[in-house]
Amino acid sequence: MEVVVLPTYAEMSKAAAAIVANVLNEKPNAVLGMATGSTPLGLYQELVRMHREEGLDFAQVTTFNLDEYVGLRPNHPQSYHYFMHENFFKLVNIAPTNIYIPSGTTSNYRSFCDWYERRITECGGIDVQILGIGSDGHIAFNEPGSSLSSRTRLKTLAKPTIDDNARFFEQREDVPIYAITMGVGTILEARTLVLLANGKNKATACAAMVEGPVTSMITASALQLHPDARVFLDDSAAGELKMRDYYDWVRRKKPDAPQT
Ligand code: PGA
Repeated sequence: MEVVVLPTYAEMSKAAAAIVANVLNEKPNAVLGMATGSTPLGLYQELVRMHREEGLDFAQVTTFNLDEYVGLRPNHPQSYHYFMHENFFKLVNIAPTNIYIPSGTTSNYRSFCDWYERRITECGGIDVQILGIGSDGHIAFNEPGSSLSSRTRLKTLAKPTIDDNARFFEQREDVPIYAITMGVGTILEARTLVLLANGKNKATACAAMVEGPVTSMITASALQLHPDARVFLDDSAAGELKMRDYYDWVRRKKPDAPQT
């Protein structure tokens, strides 16, 4: 796992965007795994800027989103369909037919989930998966106790997640209780993982993810099992890391390492 700590949210977002841009420059038809929430907004803004000012091209890109609330129609302002359209898809040149987001309104969740998994495979697998982390240590909506080999499925949200997300809804009762989410096993199959976290309220979860044991109680800790997981944190999210000096040292020394 590579841990990169940067002083500000803006710098963290730019560093993560650079990874995505590099993948796209090398592979214009890359498959991107997308995340929602407040964390990746800066990353999306930077990708949009690169698209406008530097010609970063999404014409051949395919995307798969991590999750969606059950029961919200795509035009609901809190749905992840709406979020992705407003904050990213409508701002770049991505083909609408190449966009995949789990359905929150299918009549058959089980067969939808199977189809979603199949589509990821048929499209060649995810090249780079963007991730956030919940204050309970979840990735996507893989709440504590989710199997580390889980696949796309329906999940019941944990209470801390409902509390965290209540800020986006008029009242807590409006937050959906169920979601459809890629599994931890699905996420681990992406070729590169890019996880971002900022703010003090993520510090405990980030320390558990990076330095704690691999456990289904903190599903983000499964990143320790991945051969190319990159974690981008701002100073406050890194506040509880015990090995912070070491991560900074590794980063400083990396440019001088012998080229393989
Ligand atoms: P946030 O959500 O980016 O809104 O903090 C992250 C998550 O729950 O995965």
